[in-house]
Amino acid sequence: MAEFRHDPVLLDRITDLVAPAVAGGGLLVDATLGLGGHTERLLREFPALHVVGIDRDPEALALATARLADFAPRFTPYRAVFDDIPGALAAAGADSTRGVLFDLGVSSLQLDSDARGFAYSRETSLDMRMDSADQVTAADVVNEYSTEELARVFSQYGEERFSHRIARRIVRERDTTPIVTTTQLADLVAAAVPEQGRRRGHPAKRVFQALRIEVNDELGALRRGLTAAVRATAPGGRIVVLAYHSLEDRIVKRAFAAGAHPPVPPGLPVVPPDARPFLRLVTRGAERPDAAEVAANPRAASARLRVAEVIGPVPPAWQAAS
Ligand SMILES: C[S@@+](CC[C@H](N)C(=O)[O-])C[C@H]1O[C@@H](n2cnc3c(N)ncnc32)[C@H](O)[C@@H]1O
Repeated sequence: MAEFRHDPVLLDRITDLVAPAVAGGGLLVDATLGLGGHTERLLREFPALHVVGIDRDPEALALATARLADFAPRFTPYRAVFDDIPGALAAAGADSTRGVLFDLGVSSLQLDSDARGFAYSRETSLDMRMDSADQVTAADVVNEYSTEELARVFSQYGEERFSHRIARRIVRERDTTPIVTTTQLADLVAAAVPEQGRRRGHPAKRVFQALRIEVNDELGALRRGLTAAVRATAPGGRIVVLAYHSLEDRIVKRAFAAGAHPPVPPGLPVVPPDARPFLRLVTRGAERPDAAEVAANPRAASARLRVAEVIGPVPPAWQAAS
């Protein structure tokens, strides 16, 4: 395990924030089990708690299950994309939960692996699938999408200013040589981005983020996952989300705001049931790790934590939006 160390972000704060919902026991869904760092703490801290841990990555699920062996009767692993919260509850014989935790993105296991293709700084095949049974790899996207589609992915998911230049460069290159490795792509991106585009870190960083989001449909999964989480959580239960970039955080912020302050149609004498708040914001804005945590764990630098409590029935038509 030492090889794949992953320091859980905001561990104490998250433990405190879920305590009111889970200290008395019941079930919590860890929607992004990873290496099980958050789950291990919660199982240790709350002796009556049962956790269902979801991950779409079978390797992470196997490692976390081994790590959590001492808690076996109180832990259920579940391999899925995290919008399948009903399936995860059924696996644990439950129909609602006291909380759902999302710690989004990739784990150190995936980033540091020599075979997964998530890191532009490592020479590996251009894969980026969180679940190796999925069909489409980053190499498929890079070699098969049109210039316009590539530019859209880089601009929308990487917020990359030079998306068209990069897309054109890729399409020109792949006419002669297929792009199959991380370093091949990182070098191409670096060559396509002019000097002023290098001031915000390595130019490949945003392109790699964009490809990862596209390959794993990360934002679609987050919208569906949040909707499923809010629906599955019993009143008094809490939804905890750690996001690592502004695209994720915006979806979380809007979903929580829509539940805490639903739009009330003007001129109605009574508030209709569908316009009553069903969430309460527990955190004020997004909380960030302090300087000491960031110094010890650089991955925490971009983390933004938001927590909401379910306070009433969720309107049947409600869905988390972009
Ligand atoms: C940042 S890591 C979680 C780390 C974990 N909290 C810990 O302390 O070890 C995120 C994990 O969530 C998984 N994941 C990301 N998006 C997912 C999704 N849509 N459905 C299921 N699992 C997902 C990834 O495979 C990865 O293992």
